[in-house]
This record gives sequence, C-alpha cells and structure tokens, in this order.
Amino acid sequence: MKRILSLLSAALVALVSYAQVSYEVIPLPRSIELSPKSETFTLAQGALVTFASGDDAMASNAKLLADYLKSDANFDVKVQADVKKGASIVLQLADSKQKAKAKKGAPVLSEAPEAYLLTVGEEGVAIKANTPEGVFRGIQTLRKAIGTEAGDKVELPYVTIQDEPRFPYRGVHFDCARHYFSIDFLKQFIDVMALHGCNNLHWHITEDQGWRFEVKSMPELAKKGSVRKQTVIGRNTGLYDGKEYGGYYTQQECRELVDYAAKRFINIIPEIDLPGHMLGALHVYPELGCTGGPYEVWPHWGVSADVLCAGNPKTLEFLKKVLDEVADVFPSKYIHIGGDESPRNRWKDCPKCQAKMKELGLTREAELQTYINKELEAYMQKKGRDLIGWDEILEGGLSEKAIVMSWRGSEGGIAAARQHHRVIMSPNSHCYIDYYQLKEQWYQPMAIGGYLPMSKVYSFEPTAELTEEEAKYILGPQVNLWTEYVAYPEHAMYMLLPRLDAISEVQWMEADKKDFENFKSRLPRMLKLYRKLGYTYCSKQE
Ligand code: ACM
Ligand code: ZN
Repeated sequence: MKRILSLLSAALVALVSYAQVSYEVIPLPRSIELSPKSETFTLAQGALVTFASGDDAMASNAKLLADYLKSDANFDVKVQADVKKGASIVLQLADSKQKAKAKKGAPVLSEAPEAYLLTVGEEGVAIKANTPEGVFRGIQTLRKAIGTEAGDKVELPYVTIQDEPRFPYRGVHFDCARHYFSIDFLKQFIDVMALHGCNNLHWHITEDQGWRFEVKSMPELAKKGSVRKQTVIGRNTGLYDGKEYGGYYTQQECRELVDYAAKRFINIIPEIDLPGHMLGALHVYPELGCTGGPYEVWPHWGVSADVLCAGNPKTLEFLKKVLDEVADVFPSKYIHIGGDESPRNRWKDCPKCQAKMKELGLTREAELQTYINKELEAYMQKKGRDLIGWDEILEGGLSEKAIVMSWRGSEGGIAAARQHHRVIMSPNSHCYIDYYQLKEQWYQPMAIGGYLPMSKVYSFEPTAELTEEEAKYILGPQVNLWTEYVAYPEHAMYMLLPRLDAISEVQWMEADKKDFENFKSRLPRMLKLYRKLGYTYCSKQE
C-alpha cells in the first residue's frame, strides 16, 4: 500500500512538474522535438552548471543563468568551471572537430552565429552554440521553459531544441530625451530586451526638449542643454507645470550601460538627432542656428522650425566633435544620426545656407541635408562606423553606405532596399509602441494617439512587397518607444509589454511559422514571469 501511495505521489509530482515546464516559450524556437517516451531529467536545487574555463563571456553566461533561475523561480544552482562529471547543465561552444565527428542522426547546430542547440537527456541539460551569444540565447529559452515555479526540483522532459533568429538586427528604440530615465531603469529595460532575444538598443539621447549626452570638450552642452524650464501639461494645452526638468548621462554612466548590455549581447546604438530636433544644443550654441537665436530648450512637443544651419562651417565642426566622443564611448558599428522632421524653411531664408547650395551646385534644400550626411559619413567611415538615419535621409539622395530606418510606413525602407541600401523596418503602422494598445482610450494612460494593438504588431511582415534578393537588405524590425507622454518607468514597461512579445516573434520566427492564436496561448506564462519580476504590463490585449 505504502509503495502504491509513493508511486502515486511520484506520478502526481511528475504531472505537476510537467505542467510547470514548457519549451513553447516566446519567441517560439524553430524546432522542438520531445522524446516520444516522455522521460524527464530531474534538475534539483543546488545543481551544478558548468562551462569550459578561459572564456569570460561563457563565465558571464553561466553566472547570468544562475541569476535568472534565482530571480525567476527562487531556484539555486552552483556555477563551477570545468566540471567533468555530475554537472546538470553544461554550456558549451561547438568546436569544428567535434562537429565533423558528430554521429549520424545527431542534432545539427546551424552555422548561424546566434544559433543554439538545447538538449535535455539522460546526462542532463546542454546548451551548445557557435558563439557565447548563441549560448546566451539558449539560456533565455531554458529559463523561460522553467518558468516561475520550480519548487525543490524541476522535471525537464527530454528534448532537442534547434533555434536561430530570422533577422540579424532585432531592435528596440527608447527615447530618453523627451523624458530622462535612470541608468538603473535602463538596465532593467535591457534585461527585458534580453529575455525576448533582442540585440540592439537604439538609444535616443538628444532632442529639442533636452540634450542628455555628456560631451567633455563642450561641458555646457549637457549641463545647460539638458534642462527645460518646464513641461507642457497634456497634449500642447498651453498650460505648463512650472517645474524645471533635466538630467543627462555622463560618459562614465554610458560606458557602464554599454558594458551591462554587452554582457547580455545587446549593442547600444546612440542617436544624435540632426540637423533637426536640436534645440537642446541650439540653446547653448545659438550661433549654430540660421537665425542666431536665442533658442530655448523646448517645454512642449512637436516639430521645431529651428534646426542647425547647414551653411555655417561651425555646424560640421560641432557635429564632428560630438561624434568623436560618441564613437569613443559607444563601440557600436552603427551610429544613428536621426534626420527626421527637419523642416527646411530656415535654410530657404538663410544667406549662409543659400550660399552653400550655390557653392555645391545644389538645387533643393533637401540636398543640403544629404551634404551634411555625406560629410559625416566620410568622417565616421574613417572610424569604421556606419551611419543610420530615419527615412527622410532618402529625400536629398542617399549617402553611399547609409542605413535607412523606415518609420513613415514601410515605403522608405522598400525604396532603399531596392537601391541596395540596408534597412531597418520600424514603420509607425506596426512598430510605434507609443500609440494606444487598446481601443478604449479611457482605459489607458494618455498616449500620443493612434491605435497599435498587440495583434497588429504580431502581423507585421518586414519584407512584404520585396523580392527575395531585395529582402536581403532588410536587417530586421524594431519597435520604437517615444516618450513625450511616458515619464515614468512603470509606464514605459506598460507600453513595451506585451507588445515586445509580439515583435520578438516577428524578429525570430519565419513568417510562415507565426500563428497569433498559438502565440496568445503561450503568453500567460510570460505574463506570470513579468509579475514575478515586478514588470508592469498591459493586462488586457487586443
Ligand atoms: C520619428 O518618429 N520622428 C522618427
Ligand atoms: Zn543656415
């Protein structure tokens, strides 16, 4: 009787445990093959995680895995390098000799740099990849599979998971200029990105409403340019809060953030938005504007007619000095130079700008913007950097290597891809997560407007209308979080989650594998994890 009871209770525990573990995480891996016999490997509290010593990134991976299991599920594992026998989780880099010797029928690891193979069998759990980055992506899948309720042990069904992302670029944009967000919150933001397999944080740090990047050769720029006297209440109501608002990121803080992100295989792309959206800088250096100012750091929202003067040689000198320090602080191959919403009226009326056009033989003001971009591109190419610009940079003719970020719909991106320029797709139709996410606006905090439900983000197809050849120029999709109306971390998270879940499947999964109903069935486990980790999210989804 006792024996039967203990068998029964073991079966019950197994059943409960099965319910806890699910490999059908978000984003859904390419291939999940469960063993037909339903065996499980028991991962017990205190289990050993190991990796081959001598690679800092792998050591960091192992430590992060331990941290994740602790924060997600109160589950303790021990990390120890070079354990030969008895480790429950092995993190490995694939070596080519091993690959050549692989047994017939053994699961194959694709050549893609971020591909990973996650297996659970008699020997335990193994995550194998070509790079530490691939191992990190596999770690995210494992932690999500384990979920939030591990108890004393987790029963992991035997499985072989093969996975790799569809797109090499998987971005999230965050505007930290309209409102300032702390470095601590930015680290949490990066954690959330890592959880979803994103790999580029497009960090918008200069604006009409505040310049938030320290430039050591021009200390006044951030000190004065980051501060606005007050902020408009609501949507440009004409009423102001009367409270000074400021804050900027020191280079030391930026470096710390770059390092934090790099450990999570996320690159930070800084954006210095130019020649428009520059009132933060123009307030400090009014001689860089066509009219000479004075200019104030804007206390309200919108598009300013005042932009940098394209005919003043000091403008390029200023920008190069800024970009020198940007490039020094941010190792990113890509640097974003904005280019959006820069009216050309001032240039029409400015003798310096007109003289410049004459000198260069230009007939349209839009070409002046291309002139600036080309100068900066040549300058930054010498530092080995490529420039990204919003799709307005197409208007005066593209500089040679520029990457276009398509935001006013996908048309700009499609045109650029057809000209064989690289493209990041973040059309406002599907990727602007500063829009309302529910139909009933009263139910939500005030947003900029629009309506972008999770289902619409999910339906985004970044290479629609392109031939297979043209589609190769699409680096990947990105969601954009502008913050005119988002002033606090909880609100930013609310805008991000769970629409980030939707974009993560656009970023990772082949189009024909996506299935919205299936995605929705997998979402509750993610929401549970958000509750465990204290992330605010939109609890209703459309
Ligand atoms: C943008 O939304 N102004 C790029
Ligand atoms: Zn001018």
